[in-house]
Amino acid sequence: MEKPSRRNVLMAGGTLGALGALTVATPARANSLWTWSPKGSVVGAGKGADPKWVWDEAADPLVASLLDGADVTEINKLLKTWTKNGQALPAGLPAELRAFIEDARALPSWADQGKLAKAFEFNQKRGLYLGVTYGFASGMMSTAIPHEARAVYYSKGGADMRDRITKTAKLGYDIGTEKAFAPDGEMIVTCVKTRLAHAGVRHLLPKSAYWTKVADEKIPISQADMMVTWHSLPTTVMKELAKWGIKIPADESAAFLHSWQLTAHMLGILDEYIPNSWDEADAQAAQVLDPILAPTPEGIKLADMLLNLAAFVDGGILTKHILGALTRYVLGAEIAAWLKIPEEPVWDPVFENLWPPFVAVREGLLDITKAPKGLRDVYWVFDEIIRQGVLLILSGANYPISIEIPQTNNPN
Ligand code: HEM
Repeated sequence: MEKPSRRNVLMAGGTLGALGALTVATPARANSLWTWSPKGSVVGAGKGADPKWVWDEAADPLVASLLDGADVTEINKLLKTWTKNGQALPAGLPAELRAFIEDARALPSWADQGKLAKAFEFNQKRGLYLGVTYGFASGMMSTAIPHEARAVYYSKGGADMRDRITKTAKLGYDIGTEKAFAPDGEMIVTCVKTRLAHAGVRHLLPKSAYWTKVADEKIPISQADMMVTWHSLPTTVMKELAKWGIKIPADESAAFLHSWQLTAHMLGILDEYIPNSWDEADAQAAQVLDPILAPTPEGIKLADMLLNLAAFVDGGILTKHILGALTRYVLGAEIAAWLKIPEEPVWDPVFENLWPPFVAVREGLLDITKAPKGLRDVYWVFDEIIRQGVLLILSGANYPISIEIPQTNNPN
């Protein structure tokens, strides 16, 4: 990704959404039964195996063997030069890794270029809302997904959340760009590198004494976990936009879903688990996401780190209060309480009372010029939160941002 200008960053408001995948989710509880049928998937068929016991057959053994026997620092250095989807891979990569990437970067037969073009239109039109919902619905929700929270907290990225956010933000940025999945785009590269990073985590985390003490699974990031986190992104975002009364034409909504279906595929989620419609997605989310949301000590600490990240802007005097209130507004009082996000006597009512008319103004349903001056100032603050949030996340990054195969866990 090129160093973004203010303009192109704002255009791709999906960046904050990157937060959505920040903390990763806990898969369904051991006792929840997998009954979702592969008939509702993008390919309409499959074995129907419980995804709690499925990981990534192609990437996992490969990355494990690299971590155990190859120079992964050198591999990461080479991979840093691979930035565009259609670009030839750098010379010097191990042959098995090269073969894996060539296979993994091919789009599935069901990829639909027309829908991808429509998805870009949707991202352009709704970028600002996507930024807020990716960040404060998906991102903060991820800290209430136990498997994700623990995996993130005890993996290498847990030691440097700012770096982790910028890398995750890249995915939120890339999916919203015009050429996301085209040869000169970057989303496929981001997904395939993330797939490798996840395979690395599956090999490394089971060696962490901290993680094994608290984990209720032997290997992290199962396909069920992947779908939980996936639902914390597009499914949750769409629900939130509907809650705000935003009218989305059916073709745009289907296109947005398609861009996330493709993302799931490129991240190594098996097609038989990827829902083929919003109805199927909602049904699956009710089964895998809703029942597993819960507080953990790790999630509470991650939520606090996330809310503090913006604090250097103003020493935390205002930012943390505003962001805490926004989180409570978006995720609801129960999840905010789990995450120990304090109530905000000033800002909670501001979001509660003024966010809906703010959205209505933006949607052209209300005329802002008729609003009193004080109200217009609050709307300006809302707009500014969104703009600054996106810029802030990217400002700390070293360019080009490159997602790597981790070689260690969080040492702390
Ligand atoms: C790494 C996205 C699911 C745990 C990453 C990265 C991205 C990402 C972009 C690279 C960032 C970095 O290297 O710091 C996603 C998306 C998911 C998903 C879009 C699902 C749709 C999960 C799940 C878990 C998880 C389910 C755990 C249960 C991790 C961990 C890292 C990581 C631990 C590595 C952090 C490190 O480098 O130490 N993910 N992820 N992710 N993800 Fe995910």
